[in-house]
Order: sequence, then C-alpha cells, then structure tokens
Amino acid sequence: MKIVTENLTHIYDGKEVIKDINLSVEGVEAIALIGPSGAGKSTLLRLLCKIEEASVGNLFVNDVSVHDVEAKEYYKKVGFVFQSHNLFPHLSAIENITLVLEKVHKYSKDEAIKKANLLLEQFGLSEHSHKRPSQLSGGQAQRVSIVRSLAIEPEVLFLDEPTSALDPILTREVLRTILELRNQHKKFIIVTHELGFAKKAADYVIYMEDGVVIEEGKVDILDHPKTNKLRQFVEYVMD
Ligand SMILES: Nc1ncnc2c1ncn2[C@@H]1O[C@H](COP(=O)(O)OP(=O)(O)O)[C@@H](O)[C@H]1O
Ligand SMILES: [Mg+2]
Repeated sequence: MKIVTENLTHIYDGKEVIKDINLSVEGVEAIALIGPSGAGKSTLLRLLCKIEEASVGNLFVNDVSVHDVEAKEYYKKVGFVFQSHNLFPHLSAIENITLVLEKVHKYSKDEAIKKANLLLEQFGLSEHSHKRPSQLSGGQAQRVSIVRSLAIEPEVLFLDEPTSALDPILTREVLRTILELRNQHKKFIIVTHELGFAKKAADYVIYMEDGVVIEEGKVDILDHPKTNKLRQFVEYVMD
C-alpha cells in the first residue's frame, strides 16, 4: 500500500491534534500505528478513512486523494474495524455480511451467500453464521466484523484498537485472526498497544506523540529505537 500525507493538520476546538504530519510510505503491507493515549492515532485513522475531513493538508491512499474522492466510492475501497464491533444487532452473522455485498457491491443473493460462507469458513466462524451479535462472544463478534470488512475486498483495512474492549483470552483469538490477514497479504493499518503482536503482524511502524510522528520505519525499530521517546515508550509498554 501507499500512504502519503502532506502538511496534514487537524484541529478540534481550536487545538491542533494532528500537527503538520508528512508521511510517505510505500511498498509495505501492514502498518502498526502506536503511541500513548491522546497522541492522535484514532484521529489520523479517521482522516485516512474519510470519516472526518482534515482541517489542513492533503492525504493520499494508494494515490487516491482522500479529500477529492467521493465518500461513497471511497468506502468501496477501504474497510474499517473499531474498538467495539458495529454489527447490525437484528441480523445474523452471515446476514451482516451478505447485506453489505448485496447493497453496496450489487452481488446477487446467491453470490453473496456463497462468498459470506467461504469467508466465515476461512476464519473458523461457520458454526456461528446464523447467530445474532447478542449470541456471540465479544471476540467472535469482533471477528465477524473483521470478516465483514474483508468481504468487499478492500484495498486497505483500518483497525482501531480492535481488541481494546476484550478480555485477554478473546484478545488472543482476534489477534490470531489479524495474523491470518497478514498471512493472506491483506493490506492494513492497525492502531494497537500490543507491541509484541505489532512485531509479528506489521512490517512498518509509525510512532506518534502529541499529534506528531516521532519515529517511523521498518518494524525492527521496536527492537532498536532511534529516538529516546520511542525507546521509553517501548520499555514502558513491554514492562
Ligand atoms: N471528536 C473530538 N472532539 C474534540 N477533541 C477530540 C475529538 N476526538 C479526539 N479529540 C482530541 O484529540 C486528541 C487526540 O485524540 P485521539 O486521536 O483519540 O488519540 P489516540 O487515539 O491516540 O488516543 C486528544 O486530545 C482528544 O481529546
Ligand atoms: Mg484512539
């Protein structure tokens, strides 16, 4: 994937929470976006997903200008998964997936069911396909959300702390699902506090603090940070 930002700045209530970020990342498959709480990670992700429009600057995902592209078109190319699953509560797991395929991507009902079944099987969720979100564990529901976001074959998937609402056991099953994405060479950007996981799942790391990118590079910067700030963060989190 290719991610470029030019003088990217975002302001909430008169305060800059993204401060003149210039990224130029190309030829990587999975990016871990890390940093302390309040650093601006979720905001950066929301700007990249076009859930919010940046106050200042430009950003490009695979050479598409996020500012200029129509939201409806863009949402066919990118997927997102948030801290808690946002499945439709009145639909079963499989219906959550087929709905998107039929409505957004104009699949026939049969095609949509076939594709959804295949995905559920790939991610070990077949036995849950007819359950509603309330009948699934938090981990299963989050895995269904991930599978749903993959159904449209997004160019890039954005994941914002997808395990932060889960207990340690459920966290592991969701992280395994994300490692499976990596094995399948899906392209994604994930905000995560799980640095051990980031080392396995990402090939590029962006470390932010207070709206600024402090350090970025291949994933081995987590073992050999160049800046004191990243070193301190890694020591603190790994402690
Ligand atoms: N919708 C919003 N309105 C006002 N301030 C916000 C909003 N969202 C985030 N912020 C502020 O922007 C800063 C960055 O937040 P966020 O992107 O959520 O950080 P992170 O995800 O790294 O914890 C924080 O100071 C936060 O309080
Ligand atoms: Mg956040």
